[in-house]
Amino acid sequence: MKKIKLIILACLMPFLSFAKTVYLDQLDLGYMLQDWGIPLANKSVMGTSLQVNGVKYERGIGSHSVSRFLLNLEGKAKTFSGLAGADDHNDFGGNLEFQVLADRQLVWSSGTLCKGMPAVPFNINLKGVKKLALLIKESGDGIMYDHADWLNAKIETSGSVTPEPVMPKPRKGEKYILTPCPDATPRINSAKVFGIRPGSPFLYTIAATGDRPMKFSAVNLPEGLTLDPETGFIRGKLIKQGTFNVILKAENSVGQDIRPLRIEVGNEICLTPPMGWNSWNCWGLQVNDQKVKDAADYMARNLINHGWTYVNIDDGWESGERTSEGVLMGNEKFPDFKDLGDYIHSRGLKFGIYSSPGPLTCGGHLGSYQHEQIDADTWAAWGIDYLKYDYCLYTQVAPVPTEEIIKEPYTVMRKALDKVNRDIVYCVGYGAPNVWNWGSDAGGNQWRTTRDITDEWNVVRSIGFFQDVCAQATRPGKYNDPDMLVVGKLGLGWGARAHDSYLTPDEQYSHISLWCILSAPLLIGCDMNEMDEFTTNLLTNDEVLAVNQDPLVMPACKIITENGQIWYKYLEDGSVAIGFFHANPYAIYWDQTDDVQSRKYKFDLDFKSIGLNGKYTIRDLWRQKDIASSQTSFNTEVPYHGVTFVRLIPE
Ligand code: GAL
Repeated sequence: MKKIKLIILACLMPFLSFAKTVYLDQLDLGYMLQDWGIPLANKSVMGTSLQVNGVKYERGIGSHSVSRFLLNLEGKAKTFSGLAGADDHNDFGGNLEFQVLADRQLVWSSGTLCKGMPAVPFNINLKGVKKLALLIKESGDGIMYDHADWLNAKIETSGSVTPEPVMPKPRKGEKYILTPCPDATPRINSAKVFGIRPGSPFLYTIAATGDRPMKFSAVNLPEGLTLDPETGFIRGKLIKQGTFNVILKAENSVGQDIRPLRIEVGNEICLTPPMGWNSWNCWGLQVNDQKVKDAADYMARNLINHGWTYVNIDDGWESGERTSEGVLMGNEKFPDFKDLGDYIHSRGLKFGIYSSPGPLTCGGHLGSYQHEQIDADTWAAWGIDYLKYDYCLYTQVAPVPTEEIIKEPYTVMRKALDKVNRDIVYCVGYGAPNVWNWGSDAGGNQWRTTRDITDEWNVVRSIGFFQDVCAQATRPGKYNDPDMLVVGKLGLGWGARAHDSYLTPDEQYSHISLWCILSAPLLIGCDMNEMDEFTTNLLTNDEVLAVNQDPLVMPACKIITENGQIWYKYLEDGSVAIGFFHANPYAIYWDQTDDVQSRKYKFDLDFKSIGLNGKYTIRDLWRQKDIASSQTSFNTEVPYHGVTFVRLIPE
């Protein structure tokens, strides 16, 4: 009898379902998509125990906004319960919000939370719900330190709980080229304004595309400067403060270009965002003299005509100890910095270096702590033009990082740089929260507004699209720095194998367009020897770069729309640059048959809504072509994660 019962039960097994409890931390967290770090089971995103408002929790998931998790419940779940809160292990807690969506409907929100607030309980009825999406939003305060925990979170169900991809895996796509080849006739592309302190060595390269040989000349060049007619390098020194309006001319066998250059001799330098290369993302600590020379050679051959200037060494150049006089020299990979500086300058380029206010840099090399002046003097003697100063192990000197404390060592180095007889662009290389409130006061020309960028769309999007929070801090000589460009061949800086940027071509067009609208410093982070045609093309569109280099440096503005974001910036000549970006940080891929990547996304803009009356010619900047005239509005269709980038020219 017992045997028969067992046989019947075994036959019925597939049709019976038992209630069970599934904890979130038991699921495959590989499906959880978040903007920073890796989601951890039963630990905070920092790897510490889960703790909210002083209370420790055994179970849950430590995540970070923006976070998305999509679960298939088969319509068999009963409830989802637990708590949600901002984790205590976080130096700078930002605002965040948890949301639960059941079959696309919002069914629960935690409201805005931040570190120090108690965890909020929830108990959601899931009757009939097929798919559940868990979201953590970043609440728009621009502080990207949102460590967020789902606590004791569990689903009561009689079926299974299966995580699904939140978004489709981005298709690599064709690397399609948009930038047309430059004309044979000259076109001057270098910045229209140049700032210099009295007495500092002057180097300005007239960047121009067009057939060679080309002859350069200038009208009203102030006394103290000389122009090399073959290379277009202007060198010398200016002693008197004031404004000098110069006319630059470039001519070749097929034509000429004439363009004004305003030279401002005073206290402000770097009047348009720096454009250059930095060794970190491709070489990490393995950077050496030859790699830097190779980068300079590539820039001089292929990029200089478009305004690219700086060749910057990041961490990894420092020797193991200082000399008995306290001087920090290069290690065995850098035999002669003065020689390297001359090599770079002789190509009309500029030379950058890296250090930290702490005793050690982030890469474990010696920093400038208590040697600020001696280091500034050494760099000036080497011909350094740019310093990235990264906070790193200053945390050992000042363990409690308040804004005032972080700012202090930056001011110390500022004073040291002021005493040297060279103009050194100063990068406050640390993405401290609200750094834009004090970066300029500390004497920075640019300040990192974020944590390190990587070549994932999620990261590029989350960094780039929050820059409206700090946009008002932008002005000539003062730039928010959303970190380096993640295009081309990247890798070692992050310990990863060298690889082509993981961004799709459309994502790369969006990345460059956005950084240009933001007036962000443009620092290429890839191996220049391996730069393919697509990447070179992406970085040499003079009309796109002109938006970045516009002398007004107006703060960029953002409008959120159904399909993404519209960003715009007013330019000096009365025109307006506008980018239409497909981006939805909170998108969930509900319908697996829905091919979101091949769809186009619609945008409409009535120019009156951004204060523009009158009629405009619309110019497509990537294609360098007028696409409509006499317009009062514009609509466009944008590819998945892509951009339409235009300039409105008043008629
Ligand atoms: C990081 C910085 C990187 C790189 C690195 C060097 O803090 O964000 O861009 O400079 O240090 O150790």
